[in-house]
Amino acid sequence: MNKILIINGPNLNLLGQREVGIYGTVTLDEINKNLAAEAAKNQVELDFFQSNHEGEIVEKIQKAPDAFQLIIINPAAFTHYSIAIRDAIASIDIPVIEVHLSNICARESFREKSITASVCLGQISGFGPLSYQIALDAAIKLLKK
Ligand code: DQA
Repeated sequence: MNKILIINGPNLNLLGQREVGIYGTVTLDEINKNLAAEAAKNQVELDFFQSNHEGEIVEKIQKAPDAFQLIIINPAAFTHYSIAIRDAIASIDIPVIEVHLSNICARESFREKSITASVCLGQISGFGPLSYQIALDAAIKLLKK
């Protein structure tokens, strides 16, 4: 069975209570439960990892190819400055899809640039929790190919 790793970066553990005007009231747990339900319908297994620590995310990405066929990642603030996470993504040979709840191009100028997106297969940004569902849908279709 295909396995997908879902990685969420810093402060995404606070979804539902954090800047609700931007990120909404849905919690990370709720997002993950919806993803798991969708994955189960498609005979895909998901694993979830959230961390506020750059090095932990780097290590998770490095080891992912041993157990997973694809990664969906919301690097959160690391999107905009973590060369270490960018390099970790570039180092592995499984596809990575970047997601953002908010439209990072429509916010502060420092969020416009993603330094991780160019080493990902693609980026989905601006659809709230639906960004993750769109990414999962794309991932399932890609893995079926
Ligand atoms: C985010 C956008 C980032 O700029 C921000 O630092 C986040 C969340 C998003 O999902 O919209 O923490 O990745």
